[in-house]
Amino acid sequence: MKIGVLGTGIVGSVIADKLVSLGHDVMMGGREAHNEKGQAWASKHPQNAHYGTFAQAATFGELLFACVLGTKTLEALEMAGDANLNGKTLIDLGNELDFSTGKPHIFASWDNCLAERIQNRFPKTNVVKSLNTMNCYVMVNPSLVQGEHAVFMSGNNLEAKTQTRNLLKSFGWTDHMIVDLGGIETARGVEMLMGLWVSLWGVIGNEPFNVGIFRKA
Ligand SMILES: NC(=O)c1ccc[n+]([C@@H]2O[C@H](COP(=O)([O-])OP(=O)(O)OC[C@H]3O[C@@H](n4cnc5c(N)ncnc54)[C@H](OP(=O)(O)O)[C@@H]3O)[C@@H](O)[C@H]2O)c1
Repeated sequence: MKIGVLGTGIVGSVIADKLVSLGHDVMMGGREAHNEKGQAWASKHPQNAHYGTFAQAATFGELLFACVLGTKTLEALEMAGDANLNGKTLIDLGNELDFSTGKPHIFASWDNCLAERIQNRFPKTNVVKSLNTMNCYVMVNPSLVQGEHAVFMSGNNLEAKTQTRNLLKSFGWTDHMIVDLGGIETARGVEMLMGLWVSLWGVIGNEPFNVGIFRKA
């Protein structure tokens, strides 16, 4: 499948590496036509990896990942352009955080949900919020964490969620680990989980960890 990965940071690079390893044709996107990190990434995989602007990567992809600085995701999507996003599944794994003061500030709240804002601004795009609740190495390799931990999915379009589920399964997630929470408004809670994640990170550090949902035996 042709997939556009918007974002040249560590998350974009880890997701794009995984997609290429699974045989997808991937274009990573950034703000500028020349981007050292994006071009270095593409040169690692000469067969099926490319670099372009956000607009070029959005045009290229039949399905898109948004792996952009959370507070700038909407700006990046404006650069990608409505026409290039319309009708496509967009998996948003961003978190709106600010670490600039040394102490993390989390912008997500019941009244401020990035995924919902993306869906409202781009109503013809099928936004699915997923994967934002763990570090990027766990996203593409859930076996780094023991047990049946969870990955959440929120979105309005069932076909987009089926596409997302299939991709997650190709990353190693099982149906039991994938928790479909419902419509895009359920991303509010998932984005607010960052408050817990930051505290857990303070306790556990950089070792892979994740949250899980445990049901009646
Ligand atoms: N690190 C993790 O393990 C982890 C886990 C869960 C979720 N996340 C989320 O994943 C997302 C990506 O994280 P990251 O650390 O890989 O990268 P990042 O540094 O947060 O973002 C890098 C991307 O943001 C773009 N960007 C920066 N400023 C911009 C602006 N003013 N306008 C438009 N685009 C702008 C950059 O564009 P250029 O390419 O042009 O520089 C680049 O493509 C974030 O939302 C983060 O919260 C991260």
